[in-house]
Amino acid sequence: MLILGIETSCDETSASVVRDGREVLSNVIYSQIAKHAPYGGVVPEIASRCHVEVIHDVVRQAVVKAGVEWNALDAVAATRGPGLASSLLIGYTAAKSLALCLNKPLIDINHLEAHLYGMFLGDSAPDPSEVMPMVALLVSGGHTCLIRMNHLGHYQLLGQTLDDAAGEALDKGASLLGLGYPGGPVIEKTAREGNPQFVRFPRGLASSRSSGDDRSLCFSYSGVKTSLKYYLKDHPETETDGTFADVVASYQEAILDALVQRFEDAIRRENVRYAGCGGGVVCNQRLRNKLQAAAQRSDVTLFTAGPGFCTDNAAMVAGLAAHRLNPDIDPFTLDIRPSFPVGA
Ligand code: KG4
Ligand code: ZN
Repeated sequence: MLILGIETSCDETSASVVRDGREVLSNVIYSQIAKHAPYGGVVPEIASRCHVEVIHDVVRQAVVKAGVEWNALDAVAATRGPGLASSLLIGYTAAKSLALCLNKPLIDINHLEAHLYGMFLGDSAPDPSEVMPMVALLVSGGHTCLIRMNHLGHYQLLGQTLDDAAGEALDKGASLLGLGYPGGPVIEKTAREGNPQFVRFPRGLASSRSSGDDRSLCFSYSGVKTSLKYYLKDHPETETDGTFADVVASYQEAILDALVQRFEDAIRRENVRYAGCGGGVVCNQRLRNKLQAAAQRSDVTLFTAGPGFCTDNAAMVAGLAAHRLNPDIDPFTLDIRPSFPVGA
C-alpha cells in the first residue's frame, strides 16, 4: 500500500510517500521560515503564495526520492484542517487534482490526528492497535492538548489550552527577548547555558489543577508571556549582566513544567499503560527528558514522535491515511476545514 501525502497547513510545504502506514520512503519538506522571519511570525498571504510556487516540485521530488512510479500509488492524501485557510487550500486542491488525474482515491486528513500519528512512523515505532488506549500530549505552535486515544480515529479531548499554545508562547517569548522566529529552537539552545530556577515564572491555572474541576487538564500560557514582559521591563540590565540565559532557561522551564504536570495528571486519571507525544515542541530535548521521567514515575511506556516527524511533515499525513482508506464521505466533495477539532 503506497500513499502520497501532502501537507500545507501552515508554513511548510511537504510531500511524502509512505508504505503500509509505517515505512517512510521519502519526506520532502520545504520550510518557509526564512520568508517569514523578518516579520516575526507567519504571514498567511506569503505562506500561500510560497506553497503555490513550490508544491509541484516538492510533490515531484517526493515521488522521485521514493523510487516509485506515479501509477504505483494507491491513494493521495492531504491535510484538510486545521490550519491557515489559504495554505490548506493549496495542498488540498493539489491533492484533489492529482488524485483525479491518476484516477486514485483521495483521503482527507486532520492535521492534529496526523501529528499524533508521528509516533507510529519508523522502524522502531509501535503498532497503534497494540498500544491503545493511550494518553497523548499534542504540543505545537498552534495547539496544546491532552487526548485519550482509544483506537485510531476514536479520541477524547481531555484538556487543551485556554489561550496561547505552548509553541506560540515560546515564539512570543523569543520575540520579547529579541531572539527571532521561530522561538522554540533558539530558546532551547540559549536555555542550555542558563539556570532554569533563576526566576520562578507562573505555571498557569494552578488553582484549578489542584481542585480537579473540568479545567484541571487545561493549559494557559498568556500569563507567563506577560510575566516575562514585565520582568524584562523591571530588569533592563538582563542583556548585559550575564543573566540573559538564566532568564531564557527559566521561561522555557515554566512552559515545559506546565506541560509535564498535566501530562502526568492525565496519565494517572485515565489509568493507562501507554502514553505518547507529538508536535513541533516535542523536538525539545529537555521536554522529551522530562516526559520520559514523568512516564517512568507513573509506570507507563512513552512513545515519542521521531525528531523528523515532530514539526509539520507529510509523512504523518501519508502514514495516517493508510488507516482511513474508506472514509464515510467522499473527500472529493469536501472543502478545506480551517477549524477542525480532533476526532470530529
Ligand atoms: O508542529 P509545528 O511544526 O507546527 C504547528 O502545527 O504549529 O510546530 C511549530 C512549533 C513552533 O512554535 C516552534 O517554535 C516549536 O514548534 N518548536 C520548538 C522546537 N522546534 C520547534 N519548541 C521547542 N523546542 C524546539 N527545539
Ligand atoms: Zn503542525
